[in-house]
Amino acid sequence: MTPAPPDPVRDPVPASRALFDRALAVTPGGVNSPVRAFAAVGGTPRFIRSARGAWLTDVDGNDYVDLVCSWGPMLLGHAHPEVQAAVQAAVARGTSYGTPTEPEVELAEEIVARTPVEKVRLVSSGTEATMSAIRLARGFTGRDVVVKFAGCYHGHVDALLAAGGSGLLTFAVPGTPGVPASSTALTLVLPYNDRSAVEGAFAEHGDRIACLITEAAPGNMGVVPPEPGFNEFLAATCARHGALFVSDEVMTGFRASAQGQWGLDGALEGWAPDLMTFGKVMGGGFPAAAFGGRADVMSQLAPEGPVYQAGTLSGNPVATTAGLTTLRLATDEVYAHITTAGDTIKAATTEALTVAGVPHLISAAGTMFSVFFSDPSAGPVRDFASATRTDVTAYAVFFNTMLAAGVYLPPSAYEAWFLSSAHDERALQAVLDALPQAARAAATAIDNAEREK
Ligand SMILES: Cc1ncc(COP(=O)(O)O)c(C=O)c1O
Repeated sequence: MTPAPPDPVRDPVPASRALFDRALAVTPGGVNSPVRAFAAVGGTPRFIRSARGAWLTDVDGNDYVDLVCSWGPMLLGHAHPEVQAAVQAAVARGTSYGTPTEPEVELAEEIVARTPVEKVRLVSSGTEATMSAIRLARGFTGRDVVVKFAGCYHGHVDALLAAGGSGLLTFAVPGTPGVPASSTALTLVLPYNDRSAVEGAFAEHGDRIACLITEAAPGNMGVVPPEPGFNEFLAATCARHGALFVSDEVMTGFRASAQGQWGLDGALEGWAPDLMTFGKVMGGGFPAAAFGGRADVMSQLAPEGPVYQAGTLSGNPVATTAGLTTLRLATDEVYAHITTAGDTIKAATTEALTVAGVPHLISAAGTMFSVFFSDPSAGPVRDFASATRTDVTAYAVFFNTMLAAGVYLPPSAYEAWFLSSAHDERALQAVLDALPQAARAAATAIDNAEREK
């Protein structure tokens, strides 16, 4: 296929466009993970050639302040010199042995030291972590039913790609073609932050529920924090019914705070999940993830116990070295910096949108936050239904105006904005400078949509 010649007016990034055309010919949608395709915001996905600190550089030579940070992992910014040096040294020793290694022990020890989990199994992706945690919960309890919340994403695990059934307490239907109805027939999908729905589900199905899995603070419908005491309530409800409480901290772990979302609630309230899942930050930009929890539950895993789970590249020495080095460098100062930088961005975004007259809400969990283009008078965002009130058209215009000004926001309205310890004055100022025009563009989009009604 001969790609169309570049048209700089229609397409300001001809090199990205040319690569996207080639990618479309050989890869479904031209990308290896759907949201990268810019389908929700329009335009040409930027093909990134390199990244350093808070900045991305695309194949056309444009620089962007990165507010995605690889969807969370790059807590220290890109190409951190100490992480790079550790990775280079690890590569020089060989890249995979298929044997136990020292860095995986050290990474497991680091995770155990920072979280309430007693034992950890390393895997290669967040999807693998949640899939394995659910298998373990089912194996441990001898029960089959899994409870999840609408709007929480736990990776592309069949049983969790589920949409709510016809009623609250009916079992789910597949959320995508390719998932057999039998895979979601044992999944209950409930509205988030809704205690009575949880009580109803456990009252009706309690003795069949193996586990309840929740994002510790949902970040995949935009950031929707748990209401005060909600996670504690979930832990207590599970315990009362002999089910396991699985807290998915793939996104929030070592990111929302040094101890993840658990550091913001469980550590203060004195409870712990039975199982937790981790990914993103703990891989330092490499494919590494983990699940862990109570020693008596984890000991049911092969080879100690009967529940089978394995992985050729699990605990890979390069990935674990990157993750370990990242976690060791993730000091209190790092989280304090990211908190302050986030406060600066949140305040400036609110100011720009308010001046432009764009209704909006900022919702946060620790250092993670997102901006909803929805009317604050309708109340806070507390579940999937209220999250989807956001004006995705206004966000798309806002996104593209920010992108043209050199700020790379998540290419979807339903994602968290991520910062790093490398977001310095210069990077923050570039975001602040871009905001007013993007806010005005969003306001115009909203006005135009009103007129067309
Ligand atoms: C909360 C949560 N769980 C699980 C996953 C799946 O992780 P992965 O994409 O590494 O499979 C994600 C990915 O974004 C996530 O945010």
